[in-house]
Amino acid sequence: MNQNLSNQVSETANGRIKAFELSLDLNGKRGVKGPLSAGVDLGTAYIVTAVVDADRNPVAGALTRSRSSVREGLVFDYIGAVNILRRQVKDLLESGYSIKSAGVTYPPGTTGANARACVNILEAAELEVVGMMDEPSAASRALEITDGAVVDVGGGTTGISILENGEVIYSADEATGGVHVDLVLSGNYKIDTHEAEKLKRDTTRQMEIIHLIRPVFEKMGSIVRRHLKGFPSVRTIYLVGGTSCFPGIAQVMQDQTGLEVVQPYNPLLVTPLGIALACFDEQLSSKSMRPSGKTD
Ligand SMILES: Nc1ncnc2c1ncn2[C@@H]1O[C@H](COP(=O)(O)OP(=O)(O)OP(=O)(O)O)[C@@H](O)[C@H]1O
Ligand SMILES: [Mg+2]
Repeated sequence: MNQNLSNQVSETANGRIKAFELSLDLNGKRGVKGPLSAGVDLGTAYIVTAVVDADRNPVAGALTRSRSSVREGLVFDYIGAVNILRRQVKDLLESGYSIKSAGVTYPPGTTGANARACVNILEAAELEVVGMMDEPSAASRALEITDGAVVDVGGGTTGISILENGEVIYSADEATGGVHVDLVLSGNYKIDTHEAEKLKRDTTRQMEIIHLIRPVFEKMGSIVRRHLKGFPSVRTIYLVGGTSCFPGIAQVMQDQTGLEVVQPYNPLLVTPLGIALACFDEQLSSKSMRPSGKTD
């Protein structure tokens, strides 16, 4: 195994992501220290809510398929997203997690009405919006990093964001993501995309299918390389987003870019956990995130 691909995310950060994953089952309250902070990530494929306690420990969460509620920063199915989030809040309340407010992420570059729509979804689910943050910045909070490239390979798109001293200095979004992997598998095995998605996530078959989907990962890698060309100071790529869960993607990304590639524990959960942590941190330091829906 290539040395550059193992565990450069701090143990604390990876441990926290793991704890968040475990907390998603909502089975039995874990030694929770109140007050709680929550964050919501409204994605194309999943809506994810994370809850952390006063020790910054993840204590609860919810993850639901969103059926294209939000795509490339645009809210497609507003009512669907509201219904999912209402259900998540209800489940959390019934499990004893009193969530009244939350922060929300938005794709980098989202402005005006689209950012406002994210706020409206939370408000319609009876959550007071205490802050907004772009997705790569939220991811950086969970990963405990301030510099490097955050590459978010989600359902429909791959986002490339460059961080310098904790600020996003460049970001781009390209239309290649998990659905393209599904399409390749669907065509090859003559199955529908739903079955293809299941196949892709079957850990017993990932070795068998990597050669089929490598070209999709290579395309993503070449897109990332193109965007990073003007930023020679970037040494490390941090993979987040659901498609980054696939074991072979990090090696392909490294081969394509020649950079160190970090694949954290469960990349799908990084951004949602990050927004909950950011809410917690900002409350403590009284620095305000932007609750107004304006991102520029
Ligand atoms: N274990 C896994 N292995 C491979 N792919 C996975 C795995 N888990 C989830 N995915 C894929 O990740 C994608 C969803 O990722 P994510 O939740 O980051 O997207 P999103 O934020 O909802 O969408 P987008 O960022 O495109 O708006 C889906 O295509 C899903 O099939
Ligand atoms: Mg996403």
